[in-house]
Amino acid sequence: MSDETLFAQVLAPKNRADPYPLYARMRETPVSRQADGSYLVSTQAALRSLIFDPRLSSEDLPPSRRPATGNPPKDWILNPIRHRVVNAHRPLIFRDPPDHDTLRGIVMKEFTIARVRDSHAKVATLVDALIDKCRGRDTVCLVDDLSCPLPVAVICELLGVPEADERQFHAWATRMATALEPDARHDEAGRREIAATFDAISDYMRRLIREKRRHPADDMLSGLAARGGRGRLAMGDIDLISTAILLLVAGDETTVNLISNGMLTLLRHPDELEKLKADPKRAPCVIEEILRHEPPVHFRTRKALGAIEVAGATIPAGSSVVLMLAAGNRDPARFTQPDRFDPDRNDNQHFGFGGGLHYCVGAPLARVEAEIALVTLCQRLVAPRLLDDPPPYRAGASLRGPKNLGIAIAGIA
Ligand code: HEM
Repeated sequence: MSDETLFAQVLAPKNRADPYPLYARMRETPVSRQADGSYLVSTQAALRSLIFDPRLSSEDLPPSRRPATGNPPKDWILNPIRHRVVNAHRPLIFRDPPDHDTLRGIVMKEFTIARVRDSHAKVATLVDALIDKCRGRDTVCLVDDLSCPLPVAVICELLGVPEADERQFHAWATRMATALEPDARHDEAGRREIAATFDAISDYMRRLIREKRRHPADDMLSGLAARGGRGRLAMGDIDLISTAILLLVAGDETTVNLISNGMLTLLRHPDELEKLKADPKRAPCVIEEILRHEPPVHFRTRKALGAIEVAGATIPAGSSVVLMLAAGNRDPARFTQPDRFDPDRNDNQHFGFGGGLHYCVGAPLARVEAEIALVTLCQRLVAPRLLDDPPPYRAGASLRGPKNLGIAIAGIA
């Protein structure tokens, strides 16, 4: 297999369950040019130098109006839906400084440690209630029974979206996340459907923001909307809408996959499951190791604003660059026995939440959700056993996680 087809192989559904041998092949050439002129970056050292490099833009992605070419990497970069979402609303994840930093600063004033701390009790109550619903059954589907309903409920609460709209929100978030995936194929009907989803969620947010301005509550959206009203550092309405949608989309499927990938990994390592059950204080290192070993986000794209020398290669100005974060997480030059799941490893600096300017703003919240969910699952599922290994996977190659995760149980404690 030539290096040029490696990324296409990563996108192929048959490799979803285990892309790691492909990542090992990629790392043999830390920066490799693909047939379509894009560059794959796969070693820890090269990723680390690029992720902090201001010459890599998240904003200036190549135009993407052309129809599918049949070439997976090219189709991804030229994905028309991606173009529409990115350009029409341009959430901060797709912006560069100074706009990015201004918008992120406003979000961070609302996304406080206190808010995350306050979510603990809500997360714990929700997790227990979701597990209680499984009483009397001898199998559970972790994805449907817990991983999916939890993050959307938490984000809705944080933003101040009424509980009655959660189900609708989750459907929108999944649709949007899928539309942005490289391997999403869009015919005309599919494009129209996604555009309609995008318009529906924008309209909903516009109305909700208006409502929050009229009747502010103690939630993030009220806080973000009020800032403009009081003439302080303001987000315009378009940015407000795109930020609210970003928080929803970025915080939903990623967290679903962290919980599912986490439980899958623990079930594959029953000794680690038992250790976590006996000692919940192990949770933070278990979660960090899951984020390294089976991360929910496998790669992100950028564009080179100037020629960049890295790892003995030159990425020409204007090139698309794919940062293979999950490949860096398994780099033997950085991690001892990288394919081993070892929560006790020291110095576990992974790219699970990205790095640099765009480092995940929701990382503390995601950690809280995953810690509470995994510890409670280990303690309350009696004699859990995987039904299918590997389980069926969702379509996404970047946002990667199981579609279903069947677990046989002997009861609920
Ligand atoms: C396990 C769960 C999560 C994972 C693995 C994850 C992963 C990531 C990664 C890799 C990035 C960097 C993107 C880039 O460099 O282009 C990112 C950015 C971001 N994440 Fe998360 N995320 C998670 C949960 C959340 C949650 C719960 C929220 C909010 C509620 C959130 C909001 C964001 C936002 C707003 C950004 C953009 C930050 C910026 O551009 O400055 N994420 N996330």
